[in-house]
Amino acid sequence: MRIDIITVLPELLESPLNHSIMKRAKERGLLDIHLHQLREFAVNKHGQVDDTQYGGGAGMVIMCEPLSDCIEKLKAERAYDDIIYLTPDGKTFHQKMANTLSLKENVMMICGHYKGIDQRIRDLYVTMEISIGDYVLSGGELAAAILVDSIGRLIPGVLNDETSALTDSHQDGLLAPPVYTRPAEFKGLKVPEVLLNGHFKMIEEWRQEEALKRTAERRPDLME
Ligand code: ADE
Repeated sequence: MRIDIITVLPELLESPLNHSIMKRAKERGLLDIHLHQLREFAVNKHGQVDDTQYGGGAGMVIMCEPLSDCIEKLKAERAYDDIIYLTPDGKTFHQKMANTLSLKENVMMICGHYKGIDQRIRDLYVTMEISIGDYVLSGGELAAAILVDSIGRLIPGVLNDETSALTDSHQDGLLAPPVYTRPAEFKGLKVPEVLLNGHFKMIEEWRQEEALKRTAERRPDLME
């Protein structure tokens, strides 16, 4: 899978996408991430990519021309399955969207800043608008990093234990059950007996019950 990210702050994305599982995904040739500095498409030699908004009001808006030039350049090189704009007024991101996106071949992501991007870019090019939650970030970069991480780990071959992503919270619509490792007793707290007896079917039943209990307690909205 190839992901192209358009941003005025590529430095913000470099570290999160170059460690741990994302690093491994890149090294294995399963995830190919390209960061594009929007200022390379600036409207003047001062690197300008934004301007005040029509109608007045505080905050700058990212201009059409730099974004359009960058998007058109990328589109001329390959076909994109989706062009995603990260924005707090987008559709709230969830695990099903991560699953769907992990099956795509080429995805472009646009990070906004300040007041956002000119509406005409959204009308002309953007196929999906995604928010990572009901709060406002200073830019789309951290949201893009979250999308790439959650999508990247679902690509077959990225995680070492292939079944691991399937048992994550949200993967089956429920929160994940509690997990334990050695020692069997810590500060008086014991690992549930069922996990020690090695009976596969009973362990599965216990995990399912605990997942349901945890979901009902913490996220009753998911039970519906
Ligand atoms: N940009 C600013 N806030 C955001 C959010 N909540 N989700 C995605 N992109 C954003």
